[in-house]
Amino acid sequence: MTQREPIYEGKAKKLFETEDPDILLLEYKDTLTAFNALKKATMEGKGTLNNKISSFILQYLSSKGVPNHFVKVIDDSSQLVKKVEIIPLEVVVRNITTGSICKRLGVPEGINLIPPLVEFYLKNDDLGDPIVTKEQAIAFGWAAKEEIEKIKDLALRVNTLLQELFTPLGITLVDFKLEFGKTKDGEIILADEISPDTCRFWDSSSGDRLDKDRFRKDLGNVLEAYQEIWKRLSCKGER
Ligand code: TMP
Ligand code: ASP
Repeated sequence: MTQREPIYEGKAKKLFETEDPDILLLEYKDTLTAFNALKKATMEGKGTLNNKISSFILQYLSSKGVPNHFVKVIDDSSQLVKKVEIIPLEVVVRNITTGSICKRLGVPEGINLIPPLVEFYLKNDDLGDPIVTKEQAIAFGWAAKEEIEKIKDLALRVNTLLQELFTPLGITLVDFKLEFGKTKDGEIILADEISPDTCRFWDSSSGDRLDKDRFRKDLGNVLEAYQEIWKRLSCKGER
């Protein structure tokens, strides 16, 4: 089904063409990176866990009417996705302050953000993915005004749906990053992954970090945290 050479290789995933020009194979790698790849590691099984977690979440979002690129799981580490032209913006939704917003603005960690904040970052590793305003994104043609509005609405809808999914599992959704793409018909859909690499999940009772912050901050038991997320999600699936 796939050719051997990826058409794209990122820090945590590879993309391959398939026989269908509209469909790509997305393979999750076992690599973990942080701080724009200044910190790197390989953890066997991470790719499989993210493939499972992201597939589960994207299917859940499809079932709730959020259009996204997921087509179907192929094997342990790969899934088929719709081919899209990625909009060069990383969209971050924050429910609780932590991470870069605290460093950038000097605000304390743990403030509840009501309503949640939606931020845009330019996807550009050479520049370290700088934060940008909606106006800058429009002015420089990274997205049109209506596209920005659509993306913001979808991001907030995803936030509500993910909170509805995770809160009953004892997991607090602190923040997360989304990417969007345009299909050949010009429809804006959710793309990329939703996993502990791209979200912050805190155990609601203990406050334990169950995401990539365990790697960023050298907290240990990284894979165990990802397994815990999958365990709680998959138990829900069986209920
Ligand atoms: P931040 O606090 O470092 O800006 O991260 C906000 C959220 O975005 C957090 O859930 C982690 C996620 N994220 C990514 O998925 N990729 C990235 O490159 C960065 C910087 C953050
Ligand atoms: N994804 C980014 C990197 O690989 C940063 C991060 O997630 O902290 O460097």
